[in-house]
Amino acid sequence: MASLKQTFVCQSCGAVSSKWQGKCDACGQWNSFVEEAPLEAPGFEGGAKKGKVVTFASLAAKTQLDPRLMTGIGEFDRALGGGAVPGTAILVGGDPGIGKSTLLLQALANMAKRGLKCVYITGEESVDQIRLRAARLGLGDADVKLASETRVRDILTTLSGAEKFDVVVIDSIQTMYSDAAGASPGSVTQVRLSSQNLIHFAKKSGTAIFLIGHVTKDGQIAGPKTMEHMVDTVLYFEGEKTQQYRILRAVKNRFGGIDEIGVFEMTGKGLMEVKNPSSLFLSEHKENTEGVAVFPSVEGTRSLLAEIEALVVPSSAANPRRAVVGWDAGRLAMILAVLDSRLGLGFGASDIYLNIAGGLRVVEPAADLPAAAALISSLTKRALPADMVMIGEISLSGEIRPVTHLKARLKEAEKLGFARALVPAASKLPKTSLNLIKAEKVADLLDLFEMKKG
Ligand code: TYD
Ligand code: MG
Repeated sequence: MASLKQTFVCQSCGAVSSKWQGKCDACGQWNSFVEEAPLEAPGFEGGAKKGKVVTFASLAAKTQLDPRLMTGIGEFDRALGGGAVPGTAILVGGDPGIGKSTLLLQALANMAKRGLKCVYITGEESVDQIRLRAARLGLGDADVKLASETRVRDILTTLSGAEKFDVVVIDSIQTMYSDAAGASPGSVTQVRLSSQNLIHFAKKSGTAIFLIGHVTKDGQIAGPKTMEHMVDTVLYFEGEKTQQYRILRAVKNRFGGIDEIGVFEMTGKGLMEVKNPSSLFLSEHKENTEGVAVFPSVEGTRSLLAEIEALVVPSSAANPRRAVVGWDAGRLAMILAVLDSRLGLGFGASDIYLNIAGGLRVVEPAADLPAAAALISSLTKRALPADMVMIGEISLSGEIRPVTHLKARLKEAEKLGFARALVPAASKLPKTSLNLIKAEKVADLLDLFEMKKG
């Protein structure tokens, strides 16, 4: 048998090495290796030491799954794909301070009021702190069981006792501690082992478990990425801490779609649902503001109007600055390259800032056209028409590609009082009262600024 020597584990991707490395070969992360005690002797599990025989079930048989557990918070249930499924593990990730504990406490109190047996286990705060928060949220009378505990073995022994629970919240998985591993809480091994144990319990007992997870600076759940594979559902709670709006987004769901989002507003009395968010991210759109374009984005079955702001200023630096908030930096570089090469616009010597207003994050390529328009508008100091929305993906050759959900996008723009829309010429155009302007190439954007096509 191989002797159990030291192992080093990458805290970013979970890669294992026998010696310390400055850079992980697997994921390219620097300084991510930490020494951890090896878990168990390697070896073939089907060898001499026999396991137990697994009994098979038929796919065709009726399922035993109970109906879904509704949180009663519409936007939360929507992101979950219609409530939580009993016996599953749901990971809720997000930056510290974004409102994860608040959201889960509100959901739990709501579920308790609907007759479900609920437990909130915190490893971050004291029981009194949770009580204070609940009182402030007006939920002080909800029948939620509280505990401040971090040892997974104790938690599971308690939960497996005579009293059965429907829903358990673990706040947060990074504070949990399994004594089967020697590593410190928050390390990959601990997070993985604690999650495994809790998830196993969820499956066995039929309890729905919400695991709160912190997110690192680059937006990943701290600990192994494998954690996302282990749970049934992954929700991200996102938004800018300085803004009051928050979006709960499903990125994985074994029991529902992942295209729905829930929208919340952080108020003095906790998180409130925003049922009709389409105009939320639009500022008072003034005429003659340079560098602003409106984009009807689509999230699941809803369209949200987003405002894309660009600022192009001459730079004295050798390497001009490019800063992006709410959009993809690589996408910005690509659009700039297309505008430079196809239209000969000189962005090269300018600092460029691009922002999606209101803390919204847009990932669709359909935002290319409004982003390009905002950039040109800021560069040329000419405002875009305030009554116009823009939709279209830009290809490297400068063509405007058709987009999905054009009808829903135009309908939302129509509802919010816009009069015109710049749309891909290649799209099948739906019936609308908007005045549609077709764009075939990026050069067509220049018409908006009454500029000559070069
Ligand atoms: P919290 O749920 O503790 O965040 P997380 O668990 O994700 O770290 O929320 C923290 C922030 O929310 C805190 O900065 C204060 C704010 N907040 C409100 O604005 N209103 C409220 O009613 C509550 C409970 C929190
Ligand atoms: Mg918290």
